[in-house]
Amino acid sequence: MTQIEDDSREMRLDPDSFAQGYFKNAVYRHWDPYDIPGLDEDREKMIANGMTEDEYYELCTSISRFGAGEEAVTEDLMPLALVLDDINDQMFISSQIYEEAKHTQFFDRYWREVLNPVGEKLGFETYAPTAQHFFNDEYITLFDKTEAAMERLLVEDTVETRVKAYCHYHLTVESVLAQTGYYGFQSAFSDHGGDDVAFRDWPNLTGLVEGIGKIRSDEGRHVGFGMHKVRGYIQRGEVEEAIVQETLQELLPYVAGTVSDFGDAVNPGPLVTYASDKLTRRIEILTNENAEIPPVEELVKIGGGEADTVGD
Ligand SMILES: [Fe+2]
Ligand SMILES: [Fe+2]
Repeated sequence: MTQIEDDSREMRLDPDSFAQGYFKNAVYRHWDPYDIPGLDEDREKMIANGMTEDEYYELCTSISRFGAGEEAVTEDLMPLALVLDDINDQMFISSQIYEEAKHTQFFDRYWREVLNPVGEKLGFETYAPTAQHFFNDEYITLFDKTEAAMERLLVEDTVETRVKAYCHYHLTVESVLAQTGYYGFQSAFSDHGGDDVAFRDWPNLTGLVEGIGKIRSDEGRHVGFGMHKVRGYIQRGEVEEAIVQETLQELLPYVAGTVSDFGDAVNPGPLVTYASDKLTRRIEILTNENAEIPPVEELVKIGGGEADTVGD
């Protein structure tokens, strides 16, 4: 008779593990990207407000970068799922891959149901969401490096390659870049966020902001998972703090480059400051023994953009 490989545990799952708690939170907070309300209103508002062609292009640029970013992270997470050996971790990562796919879906839907019809109605040139001119060199390099760090796990699975994977994916792309970008969106298109971010007086786009709020909430949980993992390796003395610091610092210029050229619509100064402050706080919480990662219920809180409380 064939034997089950691991019969060492009475029950299969550990409800007290942080990964199982995170998985439970993901199930509890499930949302449907096909059902985010307000997209029709966003479309009608843009048309009624007589959006200019420059404004349209700037909005397409922002959405294209986030849509492509979500698509890239959806594709790049699988190597981590293959190397994680604990069932609780695997359950959490499977929820994360599913959520990245939902984020990709939301941006695709926004392009189809809002941006394309608005462009057509106002007589503007319309674009494919992956048109090369939306992406600058820093953006492309950052995502290429992240893909390489994730794929490295398939040929060399060590503590160091795992830590570098988390530093690229969870701590830089999901944490610093995505949270900064989503903060920019909320500042520009809602009454929340910073007043010094958007140069233009954009209408409140409630469908966009609602979808981004859900996404930010998920990202709070994803970043928390990466923080727990990296902090654990540091605290157990399995990896040098310096490797974490160097990897994160090295990637910051690519984040800054990505959020710095949204045309005349966005003031890059506050966004670059926001990104580097966030990075500093991440490093503090990873390396300071007394600092604590807030419970997952805190990490996913939304409302005015508080979903980024990890390390704040
Ligand atoms: Fe995402
Ligand atoms: Fe994520």
